[in-house]
Amino acid sequence: MEIYLSILNILLEVYAGKNLNEVLIKYNNQDNFPKIKNITYGILRNYYSINYSIDKLVKHSNLQSRILLQIGIFELKYSKKPEYAVINDLVNFSFDLTENEKIKNFINGVLREYLRQVELLDLDIQKDYSLKYNIPDWIITKLKKQSKENYLQILNGFNHHPAFGLRVNKRKINQDEYLLKLDEANLEYKLIQNKICLVKPINITALPFFNDGFISIQDIAAQSSIEILTKYQIQPKYVLDACAAPGGKTCQLLENINCKVVALDIDETRLNKVSDNLKRLNLEAELKLGNAMNKLWWNKNLFDLIIADIPCSASGTLKRNPDIKINRRESDIVNFVETQRNIVINLWDMLDTNGFMLYITCSIFKEENQDNIEWFKSNLNDFELIEQFQIIPTEYNDSLFYALIKKR
Ligand SMILES: C[S@@+](CC[C@H](N)C(=O)[O-])C[C@H]1O[C@@H](n2cnc3c(N)ncnc32)[C@H](O)[C@@H]1O
Repeated sequence: MEIYLSILNILLEVYAGKNLNEVLIKYNNQDNFPKIKNITYGILRNYYSINYSIDKLVKHSNLQSRILLQIGIFELKYSKKPEYAVINDLVNFSFDLTENEKIKNFINGVLREYLRQVELLDLDIQKDYSLKYNIPDWIITKLKKQSKENYLQILNGFNHHPAFGLRVNKRKINQDEYLLKLDEANLEYKLIQNKICLVKPINITALPFFNDGFISIQDIAAQSSIEILTKYQIQPKYVLDACAAPGGKTCQLLENINCKVVALDIDETRLNKVSDNLKRLNLEAELKLGNAMNKLWWNKNLFDLIIADIPCSASGTLKRNPDIKINRRESDIVNFVETQRNIVINLWDMLDTNGFMLYITCSIFKEENQDNIEWFKSNLNDFELIEQFQIIPTEYNDSLFYALIKKR
């Protein structure tokens, strides 16, 4: 029952607009945390179809009762727990919580009615993309407009559990040797474009040689910066990672290229994570707490590469952050675009002539990606676009956008 209380409180916070990861941190010491996380993520991933079923079954419900029904429907549809146990536990929990006989009977009645109607409800759900893919209509409409040819592929790509990408620290071990360690630990993996994806998620501490810094977790779509630099034979000496935390791209760069990196981030707690990751991987960078929209932290030395892995709608990570589809509004995008433009304008002055900027977002929306690049073209001096591409989400990766820009 403690599990249900935690899930109820987490969802109340998320529905009030809080970030799911930040809310979950408060619960990760609880013994039953994996179960809490599994049910909470499950409800948010299937939010639209579960709510559709509730709306079909009841005329009115307050938020608390709705969350209890969400838990019930999620468990009835997606868990192996016997139906009678799901209903029994939730009915008992609703009474313990409210001491209200009416609410207890309401939960009991609606969940039993759900079981009677589930097949019909599922037929409806299959007919509507928003319900089938559990993505809000505004995102579907936008994707349909922006990516006519492959929007269904994108929707399918979002319709999976997040993948578990790994990046080998080549300064410690080569990838083939590390694959043998995974074999020895009986951890199943797939190689996708020669990048490692674990078949089942595990606790990071169970990854062989994690604490020794042989390996990091990084979605495989987030691992493309080195390939781009290699493709254009870019060997930077002095690099700014302008939005660096938790340090995935900074560390990957240092694992592959001998260079000096300034890792900047506006958030101190997140910047501490960069420090932890560098230590674990036995790498070094200069950490700076500061705002990429101003120059207060800058020592006036020009950079020959700037990585701008910029704050964005994170709409390319819907699988990993399902609360985004509930709390993000279409109207938020203009604010992200404004921030992105202000950051890049400010960073442009810090880039040396013939230097490169790698502009990266984990957004699927054109406004934050291709449209911004067009805007930079018209508004930044000496701007030359070398290459831009969007990685489409699949069962193995999130969606990221990359643009390599040169300052002539
Ligand atoms: C997409 S994350 C970066 C991920 C990171 N590059 C990596 O690969 O691990 C964006 C980061 O930008 C930071 N950020 C947001 N606004 C910023 C600003 N104005 N100046 C500097 N950092 C900022 C956030 O704190 C966040 O850590």
